[in-house]
Amino acid sequence: MSERRVLLIIGGGIAAYKAPELVRQLKAQGLATRCLLTAAAEQFVSPLSLASVSGDKVYENLFDLTDEAEMGHIQLSRDADLILVAPATADLIAKMAQGLANDLASTSLLATDKPVMIAPAMNVRMWEHAATQRNLAQLSADGIGIIGPDEGDMACGEFGLGRMSEPSEIALAAKKAIDQAPPRQTPLQPAKPLSGRKVLVTAGPTYEPIDPVRYIANRSSGKQGYALASALSALGAEVHLVTGPTALNDPENVTTTRVETARQMLEACQACLPVDAAIMAAAVADWRPAQSQDAKIKKTKSGLDDLKLVENPDILATLAAHATQRPSLVVGFAAETNDIESYASEKRVRKKCDWIVANDVSANSGIAGGVMGGDENQIHLLTASGSEPWEVMSKTDVAVKLAAQIATYFATHEETA
Ligand code: CTP
Repeated sequence: MSERRVLLIIGGGIAAYKAPELVRQLKAQGLATRCLLTAAAEQFVSPLSLASVSGDKVYENLFDLTDEAEMGHIQLSRDADLILVAPATADLIAKMAQGLANDLASTSLLATDKPVMIAPAMNVRMWEHAATQRNLAQLSADGIGIIGPDEGDMACGEFGLGRMSEPSEIALAAKKAIDQAPPRQTPLQPAKPLSGRKVLVTAGPTYEPIDPVRYIANRSSGKQGYALASALSALGAEVHLVTGPTALNDPENVTTTRVETARQMLEACQACLPVDAAIMAAAVADWRPAQSQDAKIKKTKSGLDDLKLVENPDILATLAAHATQRPSLVVGFAAETNDIESYASEKRVRKKCDWIVANDVSANSGIAGGVMGGDENQIHLLTASGSEPWEVMSKTDVAVKLAAQIATYFATHEETA
């Protein structure tokens, strides 16, 4: 296990002079200490002596911009296993109970999710005051550990409760609290919710050859499918992109297979199975010439009369109806020019897919440059539970939002392909 660390916040009371001894005692318990001084504490103990005994930089002031840039208050508490406030003055206790955050000490205390322990030290009258007792009750209710204070002679000449506990006792209590605390998680990794998931994405148009120089195609640019492949990969998925001809570069960290025809696309997709999710963003040509001529068709011949079209296999429907390797989530796209939601909803049922991303590809979609080929998109996401219209946004943003929804889906469906 890595070294356990204490962030020691030293409040401005006479007992602050015991801080170097406390650091020594914490060290004796095998705990490394980083010290943070309130402005008032500097009157009682020198940062230099704390730096030499802790072997670390001493943090003093929230408004020290250099420190904030190098080591923000969030990082200070994130790097610790326990935050120990000693001495905890009446003022610091009141701030903690109220959740105030106006200096480095109180900000670090409010910004932490680590165990916190305080060793109060103050005049007996202050200790007994209803306000202090109310604040302490609040801290107890918040799960903060309280050690001491002890009874004895005080610096102010009075006798009673209010002396800070001995450094050795505080160090023992700190060790005990740390041993019970969960291990520190550092550094924080960006969430990769799709790690271990395999996802297939199709994109772009298909080209269906008529003869060696001509083909049937459509206006798909591939941008939405490529953006999706990248967004899914960024969430940790192992992404395989099967794409028709496009002018785009292969996305980074994505296995890309380039094909031309619908039948090649189907074959490449089947070769990727099994996958957890299949996202079919390609604009697959519905038909292909029944026969692709080996030689260029001459204008003198009967021309288009000879051009017979046959239907292409439906890749989406094929994967969604796969007998043994149906992906757990199958997402189709629906490019519509009118009655978008009703056509898309019918398509979802007919093609047996789980979700349909429907978009308006008509000239009057209101999207600059049109959806096909443009950089923006406006979609409706149709699932078994209904249809959700999304704002107009960039294709990248649609991809990021859709990838997040796919991650949410898998968060509730544990098995992998
Ligand atoms: N699709 C497919 N294979 C095909 C045709 C379409 O995988 N041969 C997929 C597309 O990738 C998309 C979805 O099916 O995810 C819907 O495509 P679309 O062209 O809108 O639907 P069609 O089935 O062609 O219906 P229609 O043209 O009648 O609207």
